[in-house]
Amino acid sequence: MSNRKILVTSALPYANGPIHIGHLVEYIQTDIWVRFQKQRGNLCYYVCADDTHGTPIMLRADMEGISPEQLIAQVGKEHLADFTEFGVAFDNYHSTHSEENKIFSSLIYERLRDAGHINSRTITQGYDPVKKMFLSDRFIKGDCPKCGAVDQYGDGCEVCGSTYSPTDLKNAVSAISGAKPIPKESVHYFFNLENFNDMLQAWTTTPGHLQPEVSNKMAEWLRGGLQQWDISRDAPYFGFEIPDAPGKYFYVWLDAPIGYMASFKNLCDKEGLDFNEFWRKDSDAELYHFIGKDIIYFHALFWPAMLSGSHFRTPSAIFAHGFLTVNGEKMSKSRGTFIKARTYLDHLNPEYLRYYFAAKLSAGVDDIDLNFDDFSQRVNSDVVGKVVNIASRCSGFIAKRFDNRLSANCSEPALFAEFINANGTIADLYEAREFAKAMREIMGLADKANAYIDDKKPWLLAKEDGKDQELLDVCTMGLNLFNVLAVYLKPVLPALVSEAEQFLNSPNKGWINELKPLLSHNINEFKPLMTRIEPDKIAAIIDASKESLEKTGDKLKTEAKAKQFEPVAPTVSIEDFAKLDLRIAKIVKAESLPEAEKLLKLTVDIGDETRTVFAGIKSAYTPEQLEGRLTVVLANLAPRKMKFGVSEGMVLAAGPGGKDIFVLNPDEGAVAGMRVK
Ligand code: 2FM
Ligand code: ZN
Repeated sequence: MSNRKILVTSALPYANGPIHIGHLVEYIQTDIWVRFQKQRGNLCYYVCADDTHGTPIMLRADMEGISPEQLIAQVGKEHLADFTEFGVAFDNYHSTHSEENKIFSSLIYERLRDAGHINSRTITQGYDPVKKMFLSDRFIKGDCPKCGAVDQYGDGCEVCGSTYSPTDLKNAVSAISGAKPIPKESVHYFFNLENFNDMLQAWTTTPGHLQPEVSNKMAEWLRGGLQQWDISRDAPYFGFEIPDAPGKYFYVWLDAPIGYMASFKNLCDKEGLDFNEFWRKDSDAELYHFIGKDIIYFHALFWPAMLSGSHFRTPSAIFAHGFLTVNGEKMSKSRGTFIKARTYLDHLNPEYLRYYFAAKLSAGVDDIDLNFDDFSQRVNSDVVGKVVNIASRCSGFIAKRFDNRLSANCSEPALFAEFINANGTIADLYEAREFAKAMREIMGLADKANAYIDDKKPWLLAKEDGKDQELLDVCTMGLNLFNVLAVYLKPVLPALVSEAEQFLNSPNKGWINELKPLLSHNINEFKPLMTRIEPDKIAAIIDASKESLEKTGDKLKTEAKAKQFEPVAPTVSIEDFAKLDLRIAKIVKAESLPEAEKLLKLTVDIGDETRTVFAGIKSAYTPEQLEGRLTVVLANLAPRKMKFGVSEGMVLAAGPGGKDIFVLNPDEGAVAGMRVK
């Protein structure tokens, strides 16, 4: 078989937030597949980059008081550090805010434009007069026109699920400044996706390009008709200016997938590779994009159309995966299951998670669940209890009794051959991204290796006279079976296997085909390769993930306090206070005056007389809630003439206003007329 040339990508993470365990499903899935391809001897490159453009990144930088360039440089470093520690081994990690990406974005745009696939027209959009910027649907909030739910986004209601346009929202405001958006016209550029209807029809139905369930979804979208795609945004926008349209920028999703090319070009320039060999129209290299199922539309429609319209090759396939749930539910900050990569790394070995994801992943788009009990149980029993255990059961005798030298005999050639012969099935499963099935095959073999050792009982042989050779042969056999398992697990557990190779003194193995048993071979001292997951580490991760939220909560509370409470007024003497005649009063009657917007008319009994008091509490109380209640009134306040009559006192209340007004209430036993002092 001649070596395949393969270029692989994972989706580019946005540069405005940390990597979390949800992201890691995809990077670990891709990395396993890439490592497998390389181990097989294929020429395989894995590239990625930070997705750096767009409004959220611009606003986040603004909020932090730094430039977008500073923000993306900092986040890019953090992302790469997280990936590296999880063993995700990119051949190149770049940025969409790069020279290469600018060049390719312009080139693709110009080719599409020159072929008549771009047009422009004026559209009307919400505009924030304070921030002086156009607002995308996500940045307009208001009340749902259907169900009235408050604080809903401009494109749809999360409460009743209806979709609408931002102009339908009631009480719409800019989510950035709070200002009322004004409609404003602007010229936008559109990519004519309809021109690619036939091409996409063929591409999305060609077997192998898309998973069957994804292909079906595409057919639905294609039947519904393709819309023009708005690819421009107005300044201010963090992105690339459109070459022939000053003040207009490419929408982030236009230059994001081009970032795949840009990152590869950057690698080619560094390593002297031939870019065109992978990207020209008739390239015989393979190109695969691993993505989440939420961004299929961009990758299976826009991207192949853009590539085809600009005379580049189209992808060999797009591999979509499902989302991650934790303990059966959406990741949640309050439950502590929104776990950042870094928080995980602070407590646990990244290879636990690599193995667990591998043990759950298939080629489909179903969601996968990280259940923490299952996680510990699986990793402890499979990796530690089955695989590593084989090595620890055999290595001690080889060290103590045979000076770390393996036997010259392969005592069970049939068993060894069975392990080797499994390689075709396991390779096919890796190739098809059926990792869960591959792990099951491998663990089935591990069970056999352990059963072999159980049967031969080396610990008994070690106590019997004259059984030295047999003991050596059994342990040699055990370690050779372990060696085969290490080869199979290498794509999933690269760090563990690298230590195993060091221990076996047999580094850098490719795939299994050429693997011969290690005989008359010196090995190195055994060190524990992996320990069991300690339950308190998982608790610590959840705790740390919760903590960060509580901290934000506390911060918000402090901020709210600062806004809500006025500073304490200047000191007064007791004589000053005594001037106030505060009385317990009974509200005998409360009336709502239709013409009065804020006031309720109260008749209060202050002991030896009744008074009329107008109180600005209509927004918080109905008359029924007040009648019969005791409260506190300032009885010697000078009478004030108001629109609806004279107010002869003041009811005491606290709170900022609106619904939050709280009338004072004396403790039980107080009666109308008592002086408050
Ligand atoms: O959905 C996302 O997180 C995007 N940043 C993915 C971009 S993938 C590619 F097209 F760049
Ligand atoms: Zn609604």
